[in-house]
Amino acid sequence: MCSWKKGKRILFCITGGIAAYKMPEVVHALVKEGNSVRVLLTKAAEKFVTPFLFATLTGEQVFREEDFLNDITGPSIPHISLAAWADLLVVAPCTANSLKIIARGESHVLLGALFLASPQRGLLFPSMNTHMWEHPQTFLSALECVKLGHKVVEPAEGPLACGTVGKGRMQDNSHVLEEIWRALSPVKDFVGKKVLVTAGPTWEYLDPVRFLSNPSSGRMGYALAREAWYRGAEVTLLSGPVCEGNPYGLRHISVVSAEEMRVQMQSLREEYDILFMAAAVGDYRFQEKLLHKIKRGNRDVLELSLVRNPDLLAEAGAQKKEDQVLVGFAAETEELFKNARQKLLEKKLDYIVANVVGGPESAFGSSRNSVTVIDGAGREYPFAGTKAFVATSILDLLASQRS
Ligand code: CTP
Repeated sequence: MCSWKKGKRILFCITGGIAAYKMPEVVHALVKEGNSVRVLLTKAAEKFVTPFLFATLTGEQVFREEDFLNDITGPSIPHISLAAWADLLVVAPCTANSLKIIARGESHVLLGALFLASPQRGLLFPSMNTHMWEHPQTFLSALECVKLGHKVVEPAEGPLACGTVGKGRMQDNSHVLEEIWRALSPVKDFVGKKVLVTAGPTWEYLDPVRFLSNPSSGRMGYALAREAWYRGAEVTLLSGPVCEGNPYGLRHISVVSAEEMRVQMQSLREEYDILFMAAAVGDYRFQEKLLHKIKRGNRDVLELSLVRNPDLLAEAGAQKKEDQVLVGFAAETEELFKNARQKLLEKKLDYIVANVVGGPESAFGSSRNSVTVIDGAGREYPFAGTKAFVATSILDLLASQRS
């Protein structure tokens, strides 16, 4: 868990679309992370989900259209008090009608009055039939919302509840959550920065069924990419084969071998302000890559030759642009600091993240990590915790030394 993801006050507005039925899971995830969530249901939303459900999940009062009409005096006027309470306004799903209400600043319903009373800008997740989404009226509403400073997350494509297939599907719950975290991120110090992260292992094939690799899960690189995205960066994740899915919001390039990663690096490297080289790139590949499977036969010993792979980090260091920040990683089983410092110097890095492989603090395959970052001046910064926490700490360090 990342410490900044808790303790926030989120006003979650649900309007009358079929995707309302998925929202309890999102609300539950936000509460579980340690946030206070209040739910506002429009009249139409109550056709799909009940106030009782959300009151149970959140432990908070659920705000309904009838509250708006009944309670308009005193300090608890719903739209005023809710607007003052919330750190973030989310509308998911957001129907075409609700989008229009927010766009036009209409205040005849609780949702519209809330948006007028709030100093916050909202995070809106439109979801509707494809023709409704593509209608010029909806486009104008969405555009107006963007002009007002709200973030409109476009719906996804796919089969819709109404039977058509096209754009209009509510974004997956995991995507909704990622957008919420990005909106809640307490710092936006990577806005305007382009960040490239390499992650995961490489697979060096011997024949069609065998390869040489290592147990890197890619999680440290993925955590860095995600945290940089939360903080406003435009992020490309160049990843070897890992189990993580296609990461939402990031440009994702999948490669298999060190040679493939190198080709991508060479074409991308120049464009980026910050490079995190967290991949566990194979140092060697087989001299020969065979087209057919090697048969065991009667052999007791099989001798294979390996040849050296290019060092992508050293190449990036040798051709580093001025102002580009280059962060390498050192995975060591012995003499951690000595080896890490040597790599920092030899590969011309700005920072190196040193971590031990093996033992309880091992970086490989774990969701936690314990690292020491060494900067160009040789100073050491130890960080330990979840990989998300370590990623946040590394980004904090870079940001503090930039300013
Ligand atoms: N690296 C790379 N290309 C390689 C090997 C490593 O870009 N062919 C990068 C890694 O992404 C990491 C850093 O170099 O950021 C250090 O990797 P590591 O495996 O710790 O060390 P090596 O440089 O391979 O040296 P050694 O195996 O001798 O420890």
